[in-house]
Amino acid sequence: MSMQPNQKTLNIALPKGRLGEKAYGLFERAGYGCPDILSGSRKLLFENQEKGVCYFWVKPSDAAIYVARGVADLGVCGKDILMEEAPDVYELLNLGIGRCRMDVAARKPFVDDPSRTLRVATKFPRVARQHYEAAGRDIDVIKLSGSIELAPLLNLSDVIVDIVETGTTLRENGLDSVETLFDISARLIAGKAAFQFKQPAIVKLAEALAAATTERA
Ligand code: PRP
Repeated sequence: MSMQPNQKTLNIALPKGRLGEKAYGLFERAGYGCPDILSGSRKLLFENQEKGVCYFWVKPSDAAIYVARGVADLGVCGKDILMEEAPDVYELLNLGIGRCRMDVAARKPFVDDPSRTLRVATKFPRVARQHYEAAGRDIDVIKLSGSIELAPLLNLSDVIVDIVETGTTLRENGLDSVETLFDISARLIAGKAAFQFKQPAIVKLAEALAAATTERA
């Protein structure tokens, strides 16, 4: 029998991996545990009827899609993805986990030559475009899927726009941060229809999560 998310339950998209496990820890502390979820199996969908929650493990960059399309009522999603995808969802709470930042970085020493189009390698083309458009700087966006730090080393790009957490990847590749665009952390997001139809349950959960997040900080 397949487990079907139902009307009474809050359906929650959690990002697979370390961030998702931390996020689940907050939900558990908030009173929305689902013990089976940590069984180490490859299952992707877990329900605790008693607590009225159903969790899905999704690819982190997809969490907002499940929420925007209404199959998840709530989700946990990095601010980086919210800035890049601008999904049509409500951002309810800063969970204070998965902290990092969105930086421009380059080989050192970096001197921008404004007479030339700046080549920018990134996984975040919208973020990069918005930033340089606001600065009135012409850019050529080179969209990559990972290992962004290679691009300036191979002269594929002049700079990168990428996530910096500890700074190790920049340092070990001889790159330096040029500027920080914004700070990133995981957010609780809600679907607009879900917020309308399940508002009391969502508000209750968000308040309990806010308390669990503060306790942790
Ligand atoms: C991310 C990011 C940086 C790195 C930053 O990459 O794109 O490369 O982590 O972390 P640090 O500052 O602690 O070194 P990720 O590990 O997601 O791999 P990717 O190359 O596939 O983007």
